[in-house]
Amino acid sequence: MFDKELLNDKSIIVTGGGTGLGKSMATRFAELGANLVITSRRQEVIDKTAEELRDHGGKVLAIACDVRDSEQVNEMVSQTVDGFGKIDILLNNAAGNFISPTEDLSPNAFKTIVDIVLNGTFNCTQAAGKVMREKDGGVILNIVTTYAWTGSGYVVPSASAKAGVLAMTRSLAVEWAKYGIRTLAIAPGPFPTKGAWSRLAPPGLGIEKKMRNRVPLKRVGEHIELANLASYLVSDQAAYINGEVVTIDGGEWLQGAGEMNELEKLPKAAWKLLQMKRKKKK
Ligand code: HXC
Ligand code: NAP
Repeated sequence: MFDKELLNDKSIIVTGGGTGLGKSMATRFAELGANLVITSRRQEVIDKTAEELRDHGGKVLAIACDVRDSEQVNEMVSQTVDGFGKIDILLNNAAGNFISPTEDLSPNAFKTIVDIVLNGTFNCTQAAGKVMREKDGGVILNIVTTYAWTGSGYVVPSASAKAGVLAMTRSLAVEWAKYGIRTLAIAPGPFPTKGAWSRLAPPGLGIEKKMRNRVPLKRVGEHIELANLASYLVSDQAAYINGEVVTIDGGEWLQGAGEMNELEKLPKAAWKLLQMKRKKKK
């Protein structure tokens, strides 16, 4: 389905690109011919990932940066331009999250997550957007979650911040289209990663099993499925898609939303009984 040269010569920044889903998307972009900058706070982590990505033949830079700090972000973007001469694609993937009853959150706990997810996305978007506007445009792809629009208890800082990122995505899709910039989002459902699972599904609570069972397709996502979707959306093949948020969750959020979806649990015999009663009444 994918041309091996789909992303040839594209210059792509992946925030949070050293681990988890960021690493998986960066790997797929590298396989499809892109040059990459991967960035996160831990230099040793991104150095190791960069080494692996170079096996695919493209150029890879590992530049440490805390997305909360706009000066560090500006420096990272400036080093990207020094290295590759342009930025075609920005993938805002870096995030922070934890589960907690909201009444236990300190102001700093809330601020920390909003700073990484919402302000971090703004800092990177502002810095990379400036470069894109001065060249031929580009693509900004933001990773949100399905609770960006439903909200979710116990992850209120993350839900609030991701909702902000979703609003930013749709706002800039209109405002920056005139510069040739497409702005998009992906809303993943559950995709096992060490970063997310260690914080959101601590062992012993059965959270992972419940997550899996809640998905109508009865499984979690495979990283390659998300990486392929991201590759398509950032490629020129998707040139007319702008402002869209694409859900990739096996139907999970709709399962929770549909009023009568709980009827899935009704045994066949109960359906038969209901039918018999209806016919008898008639
Ligand atoms: C309540 C907590 C907390 C917890 C930290 N805090 N963990 N409060 N419950 N579990 C509070 C601290 O007490 C402190 O407030 C404030 O948050 C900042 O904490 P620090 O540890 O100083 O922050 P920092 O070192 O910057 O680390 C940020 C972090 C950490 C978010 C807390 O977990 C991190 O680095 N995460 C990055 C990776 C990550 O989270 N990946 C998962 C993404 S998964 P006080 O008041 O004490 O100073 C994801 C999936 C979404 O987003 C959807 C899944 C289906
Ligand atoms: P992850 O491996 O923990 O990824 C988060 C990344 O963000 C890490 O590489 C981390 O690296 C980086 N990061 C955190 N704070 C940062 C900061 N201040 N500055 C720069 N980088 C920072 O978790 P993941 O599951 O792959 O999550 C990736 C994205 O997918 C996130 O946006 C998450 O919300 C989203 N998502 C995940 C799932 C899922 O099921 N996994 C579902 C929905 C959405 P450092 O610690 O080195 O900085």
